[in-house]
Amino acid sequence: MALESTRRRPSSNVTPTEGSGFAAQCPRKRRERASESFGSVVHLTPLEAFRTTSGGKFMRGYTDLHCHYIAGVDDGVRSEDDGVALLRALHAVGFDHVVATPHMRPAMFDNHAAPLREAYAQLRLRLDREADLPETSLAAEHFFDDVVFERLLRGQGLPYTAGRSVLIELATEQMPVALPARLFDLRMKRLRPVIAHPERYTVFHRDPTKQADALRKAGAVLLLDVCALVGKYGERALRAAEQLVENDGYYAACSDAHRIEDAEITGRAIDRLHALVGREAGEVLLRDRPKEILQGRIFDDRFE
Ligand SMILES: [Fe+2]
Repeated sequence: MALESTRRRPSSNVTPTEGSGFAAQCPRKRRERASESFGSVVHLTPLEAFRTTSGGKFMRGYTDLHCHYIAGVDDGVRSEDDGVALLRALHAVGFDHVVATPHMRPAMFDNHAAPLREAYAQLRLRLDREADLPETSLAAEHFFDDVVFERLLRGQGLPYTAGRSVLIELATEQMPVALPARLFDLRMKRLRPVIAHPERYTVFHRDPTKQADALRKAGAVLLLDVCALVGKYGERALRAAEQLVENDGYYAACSDAHRIEDAEITGRAIDRLHALVGREAGEVLLRDRPKEILQGRIFDDRFE
């Protein structure tokens, strides 16, 4: 079934229950302990944060599925230099692959696939001359209105590399009408919906677990903006993210970085994620599962 298939972990030995091994081992206590450590965190540099987490050893190999480092196409970085600096900073906190996901949102960021491919190709010319950068690729953050939905069905979106999964942004205040049916239509097109930052949506603040279950039953996977775990989006998003992490609600985690400074926040947030779920489950969320999404290896039993 769809729910089971989305929760499959082929590239990890961690089972869904163990994944939040955290949840099985007195979640309240661990959460309190993590909150305490969160509250006492001194602002560490990303590298210091990683040393703290890993006992001096750097963790690497993460894939960031959501980032805005192409200048001039949305509300992301303001210049090419900033884009390069952001990529370098994310590389420093453990990301070896960072996907550019500019907004595709009519009336706000009216981007189409072809111009975004051109902008990315232009940036690649610069990146190829730079050192100490992660690998990169291009996708888009698709705002799920009628226009973009139809575009996706016509094959005019920008899925992740393998063409099997797409990043979807929903309106913050209200879920679209007939959302499950529309997600089903995407799956009919062999596109797995990856829901961006569910912890920020108002309906998730009321009952995160119930909302997450509904979306997963509709065949979507949920992508945590890890920075929610250090309060970047306020208290309600923080609590929703904590509950979903605790209940194994997320399939993967990302940075959704827009500025160079976001890399430092991401470093601290990764540190907190590890404090909450343990290092092994944290690596599944940051390394194994994002790669599965990127490479189109989350299969959908219903349509395979
Ligand atoms: Fe974004």
